[in-house]
Amino acid sequence: MNSILLLNGPNLNRLGKREPGIYGSETLENVEAKLQNILKAYNVNIDSFQSNHEGELIDKIHQADDNYMGIIFNPGAYTHTSIALRDAISSIDVPVVEVHISNVHARESFRHHSLLAAVCEGQIVGLGTKGYELAAEYFASKIQER
Ligand code: DQA
Repeated sequence: MNSILLLNGPNLNRLGKREPGIYGSETLENVEAKLQNILKAYNVNIDSFQSNHEGELIDKIHQADDNYMGIIFNPGAYTHTSIALRDAISSIDVPVVEVHISNVHARESFRHHSLLAAVCEGQIVGLGTKGYELAAEYFASKIQER
């Protein structure tokens, strides 16, 4: 069975409670359930992992190689700081779609640059938690094209 990994970085376990004016009221559990529902129709499995620790995210990316056909990744604030996560993504063959719930370009200037975007297949920004769903649909459509 085809599998996708949903990966979320620091503070995204707080979705629903965290700055709802920026990130909305949906919890990560809601997002996971929606993605599961979308992908079920395509016979695609989804595993989810969230961590507040950079090293754990790096380990998960390494383990994803050969085990997933795609990764949907919201790296949270590590987007703007982590060369180590960029190198981890570069070290695997699995395509990564970077997702940001908020429109980082309309926020503080330190959020405007992603260290990861250049090594990701693409980026979805500012469409709320719908961005995760769009990324799931993207991978599902790739499977269908095979
Ligand atoms: C975020 C944007 C980041 O700048 C921020 O640090 C986050 C969430 C987003 O989903 O909009 O934690 O990745």
